Amino acid sequence: MNDQDSDVTATTNRHVPEELTSVVASLTSERRYVPQWYVYDTRGSELCEELIQKSKAYKIWQHEHSIFQTHADDIASKVSPPAVLVDLGSGASSKTRLVIEAMLKRHGRAAFVPVDMAKEYIATCGRQLEKDYPALTVEPFGGLYLDGVRHVASRKEAKLLLWLGNSFSNVSIHHQVELLQEIRAQLSDGDRLVLGVDMNTDREAVSQAYGDEWIPIWRDNLVSRFNKDFGEDMDAERFEYICEFVENPPDQDEPSYVVLSLRSSCKQRVHFETLGLDIDFEDGEKIYFYEGPNTSCKWNLMQLRRLADKSGFAVDAHWTNDEENYCVICFAPANVIHTSLEG
Ligand SMILES: C[S@@+](CC[C@H](N)C(=O)[O-])C[C@H]1O[C@@H](n2cnc3c(N)ncnc32)[C@H](O)[C@@H]1O
Repeated sequence: MNDQDSDVTATTNRHVPEELTSVVASLTSERRYVPQWYVYDTRGSELCEELIQKSKAYKIWQHEHSIFQTHADDIASKVSPPAVLVDLGSGASSKTRLVIEAMLKRHGRAAFVPVDMAKEYIATCGRQLEKDYPALTVEPFGGLYLDGVRHVASRKEAKLLLWLGNSFSNVSIHHQVELLQEIRAQLSDGDRLVLGVDMNTDREAVSQAYGDEWIPIWRDNLVSRFNKDFGEDMDAERFEYICEFVENPPDQDEPSYVVLSLRSSCKQRVHFETLGLDIDFEDGEKIYFYEGPNTSCKWNLMQLRRLADKSGFAVDAHWTNDEENYCVICFAPANVIHTSLEG
């Protein structure tokens, strides 16, 4: 979700909790979509964590984990103690554990701020982390990415911000630079932003990675959340899960990306009882995942360097996996880094 969208006024405000008004607005907009965070209620987060760890086709978790196994200490070394580790869109923070361990090894104690709209889920995961790491203080922040960054901005410690699992790539390509600029404005010279991003543009691999194993999360759980939140009578079986791949030229700034949607398999009316609202779907009409054209971008290093340049950052370091199809990249405020990486 674009953080700026959080105050969109919904078409109807009847019985809608404030945090859901943007969901109603997005569903009733001309191009129907769901904000990214809405897919991840507690059940959606649990299902997602289970799938990404065991999937044979969706390898992002494994790629990022393997980079952390080798480079967690290099990443932790990017900030001086005392430091606070911030995990944007933290979910279960399962890979983050490797960075937490490296921080604890270096600094003895550490503070950890998971930031995620899935409030209850990160609170539960945070309690487990405190049990597993007695020298760790966990301070979950249930909210949007940018609000989480603003929440930690005034802290005196150096901040190491992680944004893992290719989640940054779900931000609309039209808002990525603006959002990074806003994050940059909240950071000090000693802070770092570390992004985990997918670089796999192999069409066949991409279509397998976003295949039907996601239906229980991105269709069935999503529809059951709609029905729970809005008292509607939506039938998951009347929507088909669709994945498309938009391949952009590798020498231009715009990355390639995946477009995910649910396509109505007939002309139908969905009744939102709680909202007193009907939504009509034409046969073939889609609900897109996320507000922008992209669900998940696929980058190369040149594009990432340009992204950093446009956002007030410079590339401080980057690490790839053996196959070189996944990258963990460290951005520093541009004024403290004078050279960009080649490649
Ligand atoms: C793909 S999951 C990544 C989870 C974990 N970081 C990983 O790498 O496995 C994306 C997470 O970002 C959260 N999220 C999505 N949009 C968000 C937003 N605008 N603000 C805060 N959290 C958001 C979701 O709730 C979800 O937990």
